[in-house]
Amino acid sequence: MNIAVVGLGFVGLSISSVLASKNYNVVGIDIDNQKCSDIRNGALSLFEPDLENTLRIGLKKKLTISNNFSLIKNCDMIFVTVGTPQTPLGAIELSMIKKATTTIGQIIRKSKKNPIIFIKSTVVPGTAQNVILPILEKKSGKKANRGFGIISNPEFLQESNAIRDTKYPHAIVLGGKQSKYMKKAKMFFSKMHPNVPIVITNFETAEMIKYANNSFLATKISFINQLSNICQKTPGVNVDDIARTIGLDPRIGKLFLNAGPGYGGSCLPKDMKALINFANISGINPTLLNAVEDINSKQLEQIITIAKQQLIDLKSKRITILGTAFKPNTDDIRDSKSIELIKKLLKNKANITIHDPKAIENTKKIFGEKILYATSIADALNKSQCVIIMTHWKQYDTLNNNLIKHMSEKNIIDCRRVLVKKELDAKYYAIGIGKN
Ligand code: UGA
Repeated sequence: MNIAVVGLGFVGLSISSVLASKNYNVVGIDIDNQKCSDIRNGALSLFEPDLENTLRIGLKKKLTISNNFSLIKNCDMIFVTVGTPQTPLGAIELSMIKKATTTIGQIIRKSKKNPIIFIKSTVVPGTAQNVILPILEKKSGKKANRGFGIISNPEFLQESNAIRDTKYPHAIVLGGKQSKYMKKAKMFFSKMHPNVPIVITNFETAEMIKYANNSFLATKISFINQLSNICQKTPGVNVDDIARTIGLDPRIGKLFLNAGPGYGGSCLPKDMKALINFANISGINPTLLNAVEDINSKQLEQIITIAKQQLIDLKSKRITILGTAFKPNTDDIRDSKSIELIKKLLKNKANITIHDPKAIENTKKIFGEKILYATSIADALNKSQCVIIMTHWKQYDTLNNNLIKHMSEKNIIDCRRVLVKKELDAKYYAIGIGKN
């Protein structure tokens, strides 16, 4: 079985590496030649736990990385994992997927293979049927479900867990027409992931499942964030005890109830906006989804209000931000709430020092000389007047009286309730904890 993966972001790279490590013949393709050569040398431009190791195993086995699309010619399966970025109106931008599928169509025109093309990129309902399928048919000169298969196969992996999620997905969704290709796809996935539910549906439902999944996760986060704001105003109330307890109810579930500064990253914010845009175009006013986004966009105000209460005026105050990655165990700062907060604090003319175990280089690309970068927590806190914990890196659990002793004013704003159980010689505020 020869497999191609087109688009080597963290999704494409994780899938190619895992498939190759399982002895499939895989060619990972990306238009960026420099990126391809870095990947071949094992020099990844992103930090993702376990990816480097799995990639190394894959490269030793049957993984080829190339910018040469013609290698698709001999493939039985082609996974499309290119990005679908956001337009200023919140819709998705299809130029990359159109370009990729145009090239795929041109190549399979000359091929004797009848490949299955899996669309893993996140696209709104109707895109596979109305945009991608016509491109593939036109460019290949072949009919869908006869000369090639096309299946919508949304991806649910999380950054920082990409390899584990690729190896052990919670579900496989296959959207498209019932055909020999669908049967083959089902066989392939049931062999790869025995005991994992496989949902077979049409294109549009498969595409919507992805948006339903991410928007529900975002809804859980905004729900707990709104509740945490109420808790904060209620002396003695602790949002984590509430989240833990309601999470025991199987109808609710314990995950994604961790209150904080709001959801960020390259997926939830983008997918929420795309679904809202899609709903509006469909003539539905998505009031709940709008509220979820609204809560998310206002969550940073809580933090700034507390900082202003403590420091009176933010101007010229030295504020330390712990964590700029959008979540722990990644160096990704795309749509990170921490980056947004730093921008707001800079507007208030605060002086910023940041610390992050992995994301300093990416943060430098945004702020350059405008802020200070500390390589240790102690350095980050030195002479600081306020520290704000934004990302729950495990390292921040070690914060104690000794580490904060060189702060010039001991104000702590803990957005992740990392230090809630510690006796600290400081003014301590935690998101979601009502002060007595
Ligand atoms: C998200 C989904 O979780 C994946 O299932 C999906 O495949 C992916 O988007 C995608 O569409 O590609 P990811 O962007 O890696 O994955 O990040 P999440 O782990 O979902 O976290 C998103 C944001 O929510 C982060 O800023 C995180 O700090 C925040 N979050 C998450 C909370 O504030 N509280 C929680 O309880 C959980």
